Amino acid sequence: MNIQALLSEKVSQAMIAAGAPADCEPQVRQSAKVQFGDYQANGMMAVAKRLGMAPRQLAEEVLKHLDLSGIASKVEIAGPGFINLFLDRQWLSQQVDSVTAAPRLGVAAVTPQTIVIDYSAPNVAKEMHVGHVRSTIIGDAAVRTQEFLGHNVIRANHVGDWGTQFGMLIAFLEKQQNEHHEDIALSDLEAFYREAKRTYDEDPVFAERARGYVVKLQGGDEYCRTMWKKLVDITMAQNQIIYDRMNVTLGRKDVMGESLYNDMLPGIVADLKAKGLAVESEGATVVFLDEYKNKDGDPMGVIIQKKDGGYLYTTTDIACAKYRFETLHADRVLYYIDSRQHQHLMQAWTIVRKAGYVPESVSLEHHAFGMMLGKDGKPFKTRAGGTIKLSDLLDEAVERATKLVAEKNPEMPEDELKTLANSVGIGAVKYADLSKSRTTDYIFDWDNMLAFEGNTAPYMQYAYTRVLSVFRKAGIDESGVTGKARIEDEREAALAVRLLQFEETITQVAREGTPHVMCAYLYDLAGLFSGFYEHCPILTAGDEATQQSRLKLALLTAKTLKQGLDTLGIDTVERM
Ligand code: ARG
Repeated sequence: MNIQALLSEKVSQAMIAAGAPADCEPQVRQSAKVQFGDYQANGMMAVAKRLGMAPRQLAEEVLKHLDLSGIASKVEIAGPGFINLFLDRQWLSQQVDSVTAAPRLGVAAVTPQTIVIDYSAPNVAKEMHVGHVRSTIIGDAAVRTQEFLGHNVIRANHVGDWGTQFGMLIAFLEKQQNEHHEDIALSDLEAFYREAKRTYDEDPVFAERARGYVVKLQGGDEYCRTMWKKLVDITMAQNQIIYDRMNVTLGRKDVMGESLYNDMLPGIVADLKAKGLAVESEGATVVFLDEYKNKDGDPMGVIIQKKDGGYLYTTTDIACAKYRFETLHADRVLYYIDSRQHQHLMQAWTIVRKAGYVPESVSLEHHAFGMMLGKDGKPFKTRAGGTIKLSDLLDEAVERATKLVAEKNPEMPEDELKTLANSVGIGAVKYADLSKSRTTDYIFDWDNMLAFEGNTAPYMQYAYTRVLSVFRKAGIDESGVTGKARIEDEREAALAVRLLQFEETITQVAREGTPHVMCAYLYDLAGLFSGFYEHCPILTAGDEATQQSRLKLALLTAKTLKQGLDTLGIDTVERM
């Protein structure tokens, strides 16, 4: 049920009948205040101007043609020409009945698109750090949202698995194997990388061997390939543990690392040269872009091949976009990458468009996000100033959540407590990130994210269990809700309208890639349910029909909270 779409359609038909052009925008929005109704049509002002009419006069004409019988109980003109729409309670009741009974909360089927979502993208032989956390969490929520709507989603984990550092890493892996006569666990990837780098800087013989291995790896040498693969496998096996712990839907099959595009690079460079887009400049191959100026005001040069023949991160992203269109047949490509890489992406895509590798009909979207900061407003670090390992962060989250839930539930059996603490702890870390507008930097704060009040995971998870407790107390489950919705009280109406806005919310989230909009919606919904629950007794409703109607609202609230949290990748629990 998409009320906004339904009303937009009706209002725009009436506008056209009143003489407005066919492309007129009714601008139907959810009203900010109850006195303005449930929805408002704000488009009269702009259209009246085009028609050379007074907006109120247009609004009056529109009302003559607007048929909302059975849908709205009142329609009125306000201010300079806003149209306020008040939904009919009987109509709301019917919608609640049909949405509750429908699969997928009555969300209409979409025309499926192929959507490639680029997210997580850690680097090989490096620990995933908090900088990859936002990409992983927000990207996975985008995946779940698009899949729920029925799109064909391709997860693309653009792992950093290629580059000159692999010579050094292979040489160091070999050294370790020779010294320890076994495959090392690489349990501390960060230390491994650091040691490899130190050896490379200090030992010229080692450095020479490392440089040789780069060339061999690029030439397809079997030994180097095997060693390289071992490094990728070990890294991704460790990352998989994190993905599983975080209930992130990425798997090994989703790895589409930089190396995948390596064979395309010489062809791309040759093609860009042939098309006159790339030129030789001081030995390197460069694309000069008029769209970007350097500090002297000249077109910015984007290097796509270095003097020594090596390719760059940008060259790979050019090939990658081409591949996603040509081979994966993407209609839309969403990149969840931090905002510092914005210019890099824009340059790569400008070249992609100029070369005609991806048509304009396919959208390439950078869903950028800010940095994760500590409470002091500086990049999030350990007390000693090191980067925080994601696995340590998750351990701490679960540890803190265990204390919290154990305090609240002293009687709870050990294993149930463990599962609960895990859902609350991991949920808190994820939700804290998802609930903030992604474009800004965000402050990581344990106390805020684990609070049982406010827009937090523990609050939302608790709110869900409260709704379920209604059914426990009534001694029934879903099958016991057989009556019809009958919206009478204003709190019932407010809750019903919000419940019926799930589809427009998820549609917006899918379009803009803004999970915080879903969080805000669910938080508001939970608040409306509390108000309803306090003022509209369910178990002591008096008559059976009222009780059934209220149980139905509770049921739809439970379903909506669960489904909404699920599209965010947040676990729900039955009790807490
Ligand atoms: N591996 C990169 C990093 O750690 C992120 C890759 C993002 N995806 C892309 N297509 N460039 O910064």
